[in-house]
Amino acid sequence: MTALLDINKLGKRFPTRHGREPSSWVIKDLSFSVADGEFLTIVGPSGAGKSTLLNIIAQTDTASAGEILLNGTSVTTRDPRALKPGIDRRIGYVTQDDNLLPWRSTLDNVLFALDVQGKLNDESRGRARQLIQAVGLAGFEKYYPHELSGGMRKRTALIRTLVYDPPIILMDEPFAAVDAQTRTQLQADLLRLWDLGRKTIVFVTHDITEAIALGDRALVLSKQPSRIAAEHAIPIPRPRNVKDIFALPGFAETYEKIRADVQ
Ligand SMILES: Nc1ncnc2c1ncn2[C@@H]1O[C@H](COP(=O)(O)OP(=O)(O)OP(=O)(O)O)[C@@H](O)[C@H]1O
Ligand SMILES: [Mg+2]
Repeated sequence: MTALLDINKLGKRFPTRHGREPSSWVIKDLSFSVADGEFLTIVGPSGAGKSTLLNIIAQTDTASAGEILLNGTSVTTRDPRALKPGIDRRIGYVTQDDNLLPWRSTLDNVLFALDVQGKLNDESRGRARQLIQAVGLAGFEKYYPHELSGGMRKRTALIRTLVYDPPIILMDEPFAAVDAQTRTQLQADLLRLWDLGRKTIVFVTHDITEAIALGDRALVLSKQPSRIAAEHAIPIPRPRNVKDIFALPGFAETYEKIRADVQ
């Protein structure tokens, strides 16, 4: 597998309120690569800089130091005016909030990106319907976000990103706000969808169990200034039954190792 994404000595600090000297480093000397087709999970404590990292990769924020390569080409920018969120739709981003448009139905939210890109046709509509079916939202196409449960909104946000087929998808604690049972179901849905297409995924979470259940490999972020504190290959074969993940051989040892590394 070749590296699709390369993060090289990335650094970030934000300007202070009064705008004179910059703040201390939130992220410093952070480096890792993601292989094509890999499901990478990143675990880190609250405030470690996980969302900041994804924002910089997705180009909704600038880097203060270092470089990001996508397919070997630098996509780093220091200038806020030069940001290209999603970099021509090569990067999909499921953010920490689901960000559904309240005035659009489930189907129209799923179709939104295709609509904006002028790619609405029978094929893309068919794909949207397939995905809606695959995550159990059939029958809810005409519902508005406020008529859906939290879990259903998460599923809608997920397939809205999958439908336009970006080669790499960033996910920022997408299942954090739902109950444990729904979360397990969403994880199973995600793995099933991922199995169909094997996209490259960078999935951020503070939940070690989730990082193990989903990932090929888990990175552990340190506290600020954030860098990679440890890396663990997940030795559990696929397909994985996430409901029984605790019982699978390799889970307990991996959990203990990661827990020891999370500060
Ligand atoms: N726009 C901003 N301006 C100034 N500081 C910021 C900004 N965005 C984030 N920070 C700071 O950067 C640090 C990391 O924030 P970030 O949201 O990346 O953490 P996180 O790991 O995603 O946390 P959580 O798990 O709670 O979502 C925090 O100390 C935060 O205050
Ligand atoms: Mg965050």
